[in-house]
Amino acid sequence: MYPKEMEKSIRKVEATREERLHKLPERMSEKERQEVLQKWHPDYKPEAKRKLKIGVSKGSIVPHEVADLIEAYPLIKPEEIDLSQVDYDVDVLIIGGGGAGTAAALFAYYNGIKPENILIATKLRHGDANTMMAQGGIQAADKENDSPIIHYLDVIGGGHFANKPELVAKLVMDAPSIIKWHEELGIMYDKKEDGEMITIHGGGTSRKRMHSAKDYTGMEIMRVLRDEARNIGIPVLEFSPAIELLQDDDGKVAGALLYNLETEQYYVAKAKATILATGGFGRLHIQGFPTTNHYGATFDGAVMAYRLGARLRDMDSVQYHPTGVAYPEQIVGLLVTEKVRSLGAQPVNADGEQFVHPLEARDVEAAALIRECYGRKKGVVTPTGMQGIWLDSPMIDIIHGEGTIEKRLGAMFRMFNRFGIDMREEPILVFPTLHYQNGGIEIDAEARVLGKNNVIQGLFAAGEVEGGVHGKNRLMGNSLLDTQVFGKIAGINSAKYAKKAKIGKLSLKHVNRYIEELRKAKIKEERKAPIIFPDYRGEQVLSRAIDIL
Ligand code: FUM
Repeated sequence: MYPKEMEKSIRKVEATREERLHKLPERMSEKERQEVLQKWHPDYKPEAKRKLKIGVSKGSIVPHEVADLIEAYPLIKPEEIDLSQVDYDVDVLIIGGGGAGTAAALFAYYNGIKPENILIATKLRHGDANTMMAQGGIQAADKENDSPIIHYLDVIGGGHFANKPELVAKLVMDAPSIIKWHEELGIMYDKKEDGEMITIHGGGTSRKRMHSAKDYTGMEIMRVLRDEARNIGIPVLEFSPAIELLQDDDGKVAGALLYNLETEQYYVAKAKATILATGGFGRLHIQGFPTTNHYGATFDGAVMAYRLGARLRDMDSVQYHPTGVAYPEQIVGLLVTEKVRSLGAQPVNADGEQFVHPLEARDVEAAALIRECYGRKKGVVTPTGMQGIWLDSPMIDIIHGEGTIEKRLGAMFRMFNRFGIDMREEPILVFPTLHYQNGGIEIDAEARVLGKNNVIQGLFAAGEVEGGVHGKNRLMGNSLLDTQVFGKIAGINSAKYAKKAKIGKLSLKHVNRYIEELRKAKIKEERKAPIIFPDYRGEQVLSRAIDIL
């Protein structure tokens, strides 16, 4: 149910619908894209970022919220931690229990590591992760009119040519075999009656290669991967985030210090190989944006790895999904999958006018929505003063037939219905929302974490925590794929590595070195990290507003 003022605007949307059904705006030229990005995309605001003062990537430009964590002091005093008391001693430790971590655990097992020699340590419950919340799909070039080469070109173009080519090659080449593996495990992708996979477009894709399970693809993937891990008997330590990595006296990564959220005790987890699969940073609410991310997405993995000498890359670019919920208030920021637009819903302004092609690449689409609201002043204003753009969802059933929304966007339909909004009959209001960490810890094609001049021995990374795969802008459906491809690669290579590795005496010396660097740079001891959870108390948070202009 919408308030009266918004209803008036909906009448205008209805009035232009018939004409819009037969007409889409042209895609922007490269020049137009650059113009809208430069002026309206939040990433192009230099005052929202600063140079890192310390560490391997000193001098690189990152959002203030990221710098605040990188330039923060540890939660522990290393000299107070007793590392001689080892609580867990395994071959492969996986930090993070989402899609990347669980795929990594499975592939470590498939490659010869016994379940009892693997440990997944996770901040919340197994599966509480962004994977679980992914809606639209996973890309894989497995149809006749497509190929990994075309997929590669889409990824590189979408990433503004900043991606690491060897990582993109792995991503696209492995994609078809990931879908096959998923099918064998029992993941139920949408299919036609004859059994052929249904594939659709995502923003910036030149072929229909998005495989989905309705609008809860990530949940379906996670359901099956988690079952597989449980059936195999891989141990999972829940409510136990890692707060520092451990090294041995030789400098190899040798596990992590875990913190039990229930008992507030530290646990020493010693491991021959360690995989970081901690996800991204949505809960840092960069520039005050709401987020699609799960509660634990607080950048912990990158904070820990940076202290140990890992390089960061592409951290200057943040992905704002063009369509987060803008009304009702209770669900502001939650994802409205790109699939809604793929199925035909058009973004239109308060007067019912189209102003952008529905499937520009994400950064361009998001910038165009912000321009429409704050530049051309054609947004819809909600009762609390938020701005939004209509996504004309009733077009979906008109184009594809009655029942399509309920069948293919069932979760979205139910979400809005709970607030008295029937998206089959009325449009839904959206605005860009913080969605993804495009960059992260740099890895090589073997998923090994890279330091200043070399590979950091014993440390692997997979999924959103790593950087290089997506350049400066990830395309839809490539994050689920990233979790699976690099989870698999990290699992395989950590297993190989662990079979040969010998761990010496455990140490937290690198943390002491980092504290010295912080002090030398005259950084005050005001902040501590990892933060583990976002803090929603206090003045600053209560007054949070999106400062677009
Ligand atoms: O729009 C979406 O469903 C989001 C997918 C993604 O970020 O990959």
